[in-house]
Amino acid sequence: MNPAKELLNTSLLLSLLVFRFCISLDTISPNQPLKDGDILVSKGETFALGFFSPGNSSRRYIGIWYHNHKVPQQTVVWVANRDSPLSDTSGVLSINGHGNLVLKSKNRSTPIWSTNASVSSTNNSMAQLLDSGNLVLVLPDNQRVTWQSFDYPTNTLLASMKLGLDRRTGLNRSLTSWKSEDDPGTGTCSYGINPNGYPQLFLYKGGTPLWRGGSWTGRRWSGAPNTLPNLTNLSFVDNQDEVTAMYGATDPTVFTRVVLDESGTLHRLTWNGNKWVEFWSFPGECDTYRECGPSSNCNPYEPDNFRCTCLPGLEPNSTRDWNMRVGSGGCSRKQGASMCRNGEGFVKLVRVKVPDTSVARVDMSLSLKECEQECLRNCSCTAYSSADETRGGIGCLSWHGDLVDIRTFANAGQDLYIRVDAVVLGILLYYVFLFGRCYFRKQLCAITFSDL
Ligand SMILES: *[C@@H]1O[C@H](CO)[C@@H](O)[C@H](O)[C@H]1NC(C)=O
Ligand SMILES: *[C@@H]1O[C@H](CO)[C@@H](O)[C@H](O)[C@H]1NC(C)=O
Ligand SMILES: *[C@@H]1O[C@H](CO)[C@@H](O)[C@H](O)[C@H]1NC(C)=O
Ligand SMILES: *[C@@H]1O[C@H](CO)[C@@H](O)[C@H](O)[C@H]1NC(C)=O
Ligand SMILES: *[C@@H]1O[C@H](CO)[C@@H](O)[C@H](O)[C@H]1NC(C)=O
Ligand SMILES: *[C@@H]1O[C@H](CO)[C@@H](O)[C@H](O)[C@H]1NC(C)=O
Ligand SMILES: *[C@@H]1O[C@H](CO)[C@@H](O)[C@H](O)[C@H]1NC(C)=O
Ligand SMILES: *[C@@H]1O[C@H](CO)[C@@H](O)[C@H](O)[C@H]1NC(C)=O
Ligand SMILES: *[C@@H]1O[C@H](CO)[C@@H](O)[C@H](O)[C@H]1NC(C)=O
Repeated sequence: MNPAKELLNTSLLLSLLVFRFCISLDTISPNQPLKDGDILVSKGETFALGFFSPGNSSRRYIGIWYHNHKVPQQTVVWVANRDSPLSDTSGVLSINGHGNLVLKSKNRSTPIWSTNASVSSTNNSMAQLLDSGNLVLVLPDNQRVTWQSFDYPTNTLLASMKLGLDRRTGLNRSLTSWKSEDDPGTGTCSYGINPNGYPQLFLYKGGTPLWRGGSWTGRRWSGAPNTLPNLTNLSFVDNQDEVTAMYGATDPTVFTRVVLDESGTLHRLTWNGNKWVEFWSFPGECDTYRECGPSSNCNPYEPDNFRCTCLPGLEPNSTRDWNMRVGSGGCSRKQGASMCRNGEGFVKLVRVKVPDTSVARVDMSLSLKECEQECLRNCSCTAYSSADETRGGIGCLSWHGDLVDIRTFANAGQDLYIRVDAVVLGILLYYVFLFGRCYFRKQLCAITFSDL
């Protein structure tokens, strides 16, 4: 053979090899599967997808993480086969004859994991890793997305990823914690939208509520006043098609994520160039669901005092518990208090997280004044507030029974109007007369009178 030609062949082969090695694709196509050791890289090199082993585990999982050009410490944001790992490196992720992504291993004939897109049998589906961190399965002819990883979150919420229910398909997106740092399998904590009553964000541990993120106030979630204002914008949609929450990143060069850890703590983290910095975490003080029991308010800014206080006109259900600073028994109405068309009115508590709205009634057509009148007319109504805090308050939330999981915030929070009888109203009025201001157990309040 001509040595020159041979050299040419070799260098061609070499350059082909180098070429193949350097160019990281962002798509998996029917004739381009992904083997263990290969990675997909999104166009702007923000995210990578490939096989990985978490923590000290040697098991293999398909995951998406921030590309190490951007975030050197491996930060996994999504796992495909979280509950069915591979024990060796024989895994291959490919597009099957039905246009779905499937993960197979050498040993097994049946897929270890697969997407469930309903595509009519087609060979030209492609899976593409986007710069948002979303892995999408698309039909190239019409660009229709038939499946996306954002619809199946693991423990991490990224910008433009939705939580909540698609009412048309029944798809309910929620975060679920890992089992441990070594095992991304489905853990016991979850975070999503509870659609009952007026929809709220809820964090659960083993199925019981651990923290109530609360209802949408038009700007923020009632239980989470510290959003990340300059880097994220929050939004909520509740219509016939969906009830969903999400956040947008207003500065795409800043990486920010929400992660639910194994113990049931939710963290908002931002990459500062060297490390992940925590902006907030929940639950914090006074955040544990029903920490103070029914009809009691939790105020973490009174370090010397017991954090639980009964709402105006109520008294501890158990004085003994209260003296021992056990608040979970809550409070109940004083014996003989008349709450029905007998001169009662409302006391306003300011800067609070309004009670659990899964049992609240909502009427978005009412003003605050109309809300008060509605509440007053109905003797079972125990409290009301605006549903939406924008434009001076829109809509009416009313409660008819125990008021559960209220807390005070330092700088944010809504006004909550609590029904009190004429006697309590008289006492508070006397304080106003004495001190010029309405103080209810060190908390600023205001009084509104009934017209009856
Ligand atoms: C991995 O093992 C080392 C040594 O046993 C231990 O110090 C470390 O905490 C483990 N890491 C994880 C994530 O479990
Ligand atoms: C494949 O088979 C070998 C031997 O039967 C076994 O040791 C290994 O764990 C199997 N791998 C998987 C992924 O099941
Ligand atoms: C796909 O659907 C099958 C059958 O309905 C189910 O067993 C499997 O868990 C689903 N896979 C995923 C990834 O949802
Ligand atoms: C998909 O490709 C296979 C082999 O390339 C072919 O046998 C099959 O008919 C194709 N299916 C469709 C729906 O085009
Ligand atoms: C959706 O998931 C959340 C969180 O796990 C849960 O609270 C809610 O009830 C679910 N919604 C539906 C309609 O199943
Ligand atoms: C957000 O921006 C405003 C005005 O641009 C600034 O005053 C404020 O300090 C910023 N907040 C944070 C948390 O960076
Ligand atoms: C959030 O900000 C992004 C970037 O500026 C913008 O594209 C998006 O529409 C905003 N979303 C909402 C709900 O305001
Ligand atoms: C209040 O105390 C009474 C009697 O001790 C008890 O029956 C009731 O269940 C308690 N209520 C709450 C909300 O704990
Ligand atoms: C008062 O409100 C309750 C709870 O929503 C409702 O069941 C009841 O019919 C109302 N009563 C009146 C008189 O409107």
